[in-house]
Amino acid sequence: MDLFELMMKRRSVRNFEDRPVPSDVVDRLLDVANNAPSGGNIQPLSIVVVQEPEARVELAEMVGGQPWVKNAPVSMVFCIDFYRVKKWASMFDVEFLGERALSLFLIAYADLMCAAQNVVVLAESEGLGSVYVGTIQSSVSHAREFFGMPDYVLPLMVLSLGYPKSVPKTIPKLATDVVVHRERYRVPSDDEISAAFESKYGDITDDVDAYLKRAYIEVVEADRQGDRGRVENAKERMNKLDIKSNAEFLFNLRYPQRLMVGMNSRLIASMRKAGFDFPGVGRVSAPGAPPSEASGTSP
Ligand SMILES: Cc1cc2nc3c(=O)[nH]c(=O)nc-3n(C[C@H](O)[C@H](O)[C@H](O)COP(=O)(O)O)c2cc1C
Repeated sequence: MDLFELMMKRRSVRNFEDRPVPSDVVDRLLDVANNAPSGGNIQPLSIVVVQEPEARVELAEMVGGQPWVKNAPVSMVFCIDFYRVKKWASMFDVEFLGERALSLFLIAYADLMCAAQNVVVLAESEGLGSVYVGTIQSSVSHAREFFGMPDYVLPLMVLSLGYPKSVPKTIPKLATDVVVHRERYRVPSDDEISAAFESKYGDITDDVDAYLKRAYIEVVEADRQGDRGRVENAKERMNKLDIKSNAEFLFNLRYPQRLMVGMNSRLIASMRKAGFDFPGVGRVSAPGAPPSEASGTSP
């Protein structure tokens, strides 16, 4: 299979065989993570490899009880790690202030995802499947404590891996030309936007089980793995919330927007606890005060 085909066939896998991943394969996955691009080549990244059963159970709890995290033989916890960089800089009486500079933080998060995505691609070519689990965001402090992380280390993404028992077939995507703009951004009309999402998700008044397989594979898969009642619960909530459109389903039911905004305070508190604080964020700067985007240093 060529690389294009491999990457087009990739799907998030949440159903893993109870089979360990050989350590040389895990080592290769970690090598490609470490070989990923990195802004300024600073590499402010650490990866905690989780394979022991008790730790898998604990990690699954941290991410909101997603069963595949417990069932996957390997999970990798990707962390922004400014501890190592700060220590090293301080040894030479140099300040490193990534924990206060939003720009360095964003670059570090991009680094983290480049590293993780390298793992996803190599894993695929090794016959493994993987799934990102971003809900570690809601347990940053718990995770830091559990893994013994010092200040300036933030676990922000989990990638669970293993040999697939099954691979989802019905994951919808926007058409490529919806997300691609050539040379200039072409502002889509309301009709185009509506058509793009309708064509992605299909008719919500369809057979509800088929719809959930497309639009909420997580509950279908969780039920399959013994976490019974998730599909029924989703259906009940669809009724209760009177969900009639794909947008309502996504932003009222799956990701209730007010709730998401409400999660800010917890996440920010965990970040502060880890030493991260961004002066100026949340305040509107006086006109003329901030340097223009163009005058910033490039990473
Ligand atoms: C940043 C990020 C966070 C994600 N978090 C979760 C998660 O918490 N649980 C999960 O089951 N899948 C998670 N996923 C996987 C997405 O649900 C999946 O990529 C999406 O449904 C598209 O399916 P595909 O990966 O098969 O193309 C995440 C993916 C990304 C990129």
